[in-house]
Amino acid sequence: MCGIVGYIGANDSKGILLHGLEKLEYRGYDSAGIAVLNDNGVHLTKVKGRIVTLKESMDNSNSVEATLGIGHTRWATHGEPSTLNAHPHQSTSGKFTIVHNGVIENYQDIKRNYLEAVDFVSETDTEVIVQLIEKLYDEFQNTIKAFQEAMKLLKGSYAIGMIDVDDPNTLYVSKNKSPLLIGLGDGFNVIASDAMATLKETDQYLEIFDKEIVLVHRNHVEIQKLNGKVVDRQPYTAEIDASDIEKGTYPHYMLKEIDEQPIVIRNIIKEYQDENNEVKLDDSIRNAMQEADRVYIIAAGTSYHAGLIGKEFMEKMARIPVEVHVASEFSYNMPLLSEKPLFVFISQSGETADSRAVLVKIKEMGHPALTITNVPGSTLSREADYTLQLHAGPEIAVASTKAYTAQIAVLTILAADIAKAKGLELEFDPIKELAIVSSAMEVLTDQKEEIEQLAGIYLDTTRNAFFIGRGLDYNVSLEAALKLKEISYIQAEGFAGGELKHGTIALIEEGTPVIALATQENVNYSIRGNVQEVVARGANALIISMRGLEQDTDAFVLPKVHELLTPLISVIPLQLLAYYAALHRDCDVDKPRNLAKSVTVE
Ligand code: M6R
Repeated sequence: MCGIVGYIGANDSKGILLHGLEKLEYRGYDSAGIAVLNDNGVHLTKVKGRIVTLKESMDNSNSVEATLGIGHTRWATHGEPSTLNAHPHQSTSGKFTIVHNGVIENYQDIKRNYLEAVDFVSETDTEVIVQLIEKLYDEFQNTIKAFQEAMKLLKGSYAIGMIDVDDPNTLYVSKNKSPLLIGLGDGFNVIASDAMATLKETDQYLEIFDKEIVLVHRNHVEIQKLNGKVVDRQPYTAEIDASDIEKGTYPHYMLKEIDEQPIVIRNIIKEYQDENNEVKLDDSIRNAMQEADRVYIIAAGTSYHAGLIGKEFMEKMARIPVEVHVASEFSYNMPLLSEKPLFVFISQSGETADSRAVLVKIKEMGHPALTITNVPGSTLSREADYTLQLHAGPEIAVASTKAYTAQIAVLTILAADIAKAKGLELEFDPIKELAIVSSAMEVLTDQKEEIEQLAGIYLDTTRNAFFIGRGLDYNVSLEAALKLKEISYIQAEGFAGGELKHGTIALIEEGTPVIALATQENVNYSIRGNVQEVVARGANALIISMRGLEQDTDAFVLPKVHELLTPLISVIPLQLLAYYAALHRDCDVDKPRNLAKSVTVE
């Protein structure tokens, strides 16, 4: 987590840094800071809180002009969110100033072994890096050498931008595991955790690989290995439409992204269909899937919930056995693997550290990996053997919405393609049914007023809520509960309808909201039975059913789509319920407390 931006050029850097940080705020937003260098030295501004507070603080202070600067927006790992712990951090003499994203695993060892005499001012692992560089500088009297040697000693993840007060012509950069890009301009260069931060400046980017050092000057950039060997690399053009990362007339990114779901499904159809309107995938992916005797889906949060649905598709449509694992658990508690496993990583950002830790491990074991991601070129995409793209466009709100449905749609395509390759008969035409889904999504996104009313009735005054379902509906219930708790802070749980009576029903009291999904014919009566059980104990039940299975008392009826694809549409009113519940409680919908969009720490 955390976002980094840097600029070296001919113009004043502050506006560019602040704009970049605003675009990176999704990566963390508990404190922020900027350091700029001019003839009078380094000028540091740090605040607890958001970029808007940083901006105010800079407006209020006598702000200086400077053509070299670095900025940071933080998601705290070591040390509470505070001005003191906010980046940039400086070495004791003030010679070096750095911003850092990642976690230094051996920072205590470094402190003990090299920096016993240093008085630290913050609780961060980052300050250890900058003090170490100063210590090594004292020894070598050479900044590049000190920077290289420091990077060799660090264990863990880092993306670093550094200023040397005595060198106004260089921005020192390095990375390991955490993302960082160099943006190339005419007479200037920038660095950023994500190209979105600096798209206004340039669309030309240089990738940096792990354990490389980059010396960024105004008119050129030099990439080196840690041993000083210079590396030649060609830039690429970032293909992000700048308008995709603006909210436009929407009050929140989350609402915009919910509304984008029909078009995302159409994009996916367009990307993954051939001239005969049949699903098409890369041969290499198809072969890898067919060679596997078992698929292991690895993911976190919402992507894990999409994986649960993917398992149903792959087993029911393509007859491949699938296990779905939470990434952070799998790393440390690996199950007995099959003979020929294939790993499928599902990750919107492609940067989730928990998933990456598994990827690194299974690659060492020699197993093949496919990443399903929204971000081509992301770490998980680069390091896996194959990638399937979500084509959902940038997702900015911390709460994932369109990425979830895009993941499910791509998993539909994947399962259908393998089924076709295996000569299995599908009971539906995936392309046609996804097109129906897209239209059904449009109907649902037009029903915001109705859903806002339901949010008012069921969620405005409650302290907790339950979502229940059976089969696919149970998997969607898990996602609905995550969405609600994540942004409205209402304690919410997703449960299998039949499981409540084994303990959790004890929590049902007069007025407890229970939101039940009833979209699956084979369990339509049993889930309704579970609803009766909670109603008998005072629950305020809201049933969301599907056309064809509805009953008079159902509060909301979804348009009919193929039964296997219902998660793609049943989640939409649930996303909107969470959105309005959070809005009614005056919560910060797009940037909920304690969270960040891209979770790059384990
Ligand atoms: O980028 P990823 O899909 O790997 O992220 C995984 C989770 O951190 C993410 O889905 C998280 O649960 C969402 N904020 C939930 O809305």
